[in-house]
Amino acid sequence: MTVLETGASSPSPMLAGKIAVVTGGTRGIGAAIVEVYAEAGATVVYTGRQVPRPEPTGHPTPQPIAHPCDLADEGSISALFDFVHERFGGADVLVNNAAIHDNAAAHKMSSEQFRRVVDTDLVGTFLCSKLAALQMREHGRGGAIVNITSIASVTANAGQVNYVAAKAGVEAMTKVMARENARRGIRVNAIRPGLIHTDMTADMPEQLWAQKVATTPMGRPGDAHEVARAALFLASPHASYVTGVVLDVSGGRGM
Ligand SMILES: NC(=O)c1ccc[n+]([C@@H]2O[C@H](COP(=O)([O-])OP(=O)(O)OC[C@H]3O[C@@H](n4cnc5c(N)ncnc54)[C@H](O)[C@@H]3O)[C@@H](O)[C@H]2O)c1
Repeated sequence: MTVLETGASSPSPMLAGKIAVVTGGTRGIGAAIVEVYAEAGATVVYTGRQVPRPEPTGHPTPQPIAHPCDLADEGSISALFDFVHERFGGADVLVNNAAIHDNAAAHKMSSEQFRRVVDTDLVGTFLCSKLAALQMREHGRGGAIVNITSIASVTANAGQVNYVAAKAGVEAMTKVMARENARRGIRVNAIRPGLIHTDMTADMPEQLWAQKVATTPMGRPGDAHEVARAALFLASPHASYVTGVVLDVSGGRGM
């Protein structure tokens, strides 16, 4: 029997009592993070663009709570963090996971196409981080922000000038916010995934997929749960002296 060595089977409750917000938690890497965080004892509020609003009353629950949010809409992001504040007194953990891509060569890309990706992936991440950091500063318990970036920020993929600029911007922002919040016990880190099997990569041409696998030293794509477990580490007390880092989770492709 072949056993795929993808990591621990049952994480300990490292996030017991924590309120964690995960953007884009309806599928892919975000859904895996929601699952792993809930198993680790967190109360998770995850977003999707079309999920229904949660019931107005309630208490911390072991079941993840869906809340609608469009990262390209500042009012929608404010409503999400207002909900977290009113229901739970603020976030302890934020994972900025949601993102889009919309590819074209730079000389053929419209300004609208460039802005849409940067608005969602970079500005949306900034606004969520700002509101989460404000809540963490207000409640005074510290906190952790985990930004999901991409190996594309270093491989500089042709056809992804908007996405690469946004992800590289998020990595730079990670370090600025880590420095600004370090004395408050708020840690800000990033995860830079390589090739991961999700809906985002489902439409990748077969030849490109094969080429990416071939240039991955571990010789295989990653699983969303392998990214999720790295996100658990960075949010947990095990990473208590880790801030301002970009953790490569790419099967060695980032070397
Ligand atoms: N899959 C990969 O190979 C890979 C590689 C590197 C980085 N990443 C990054 O990992 C993260 C998750 O990617 P994935 O592969 O799971 O993608 P995915 O497309 O499967 O999921 C993206 C999530 O973001 C949400 N989303 C998109 N636009 C949104 C908006 N405007 N407002 C709110 N939510 C929105 C979607 O609903 C979905 O839940 C992204 O930041 C992506 O850039 C993925």
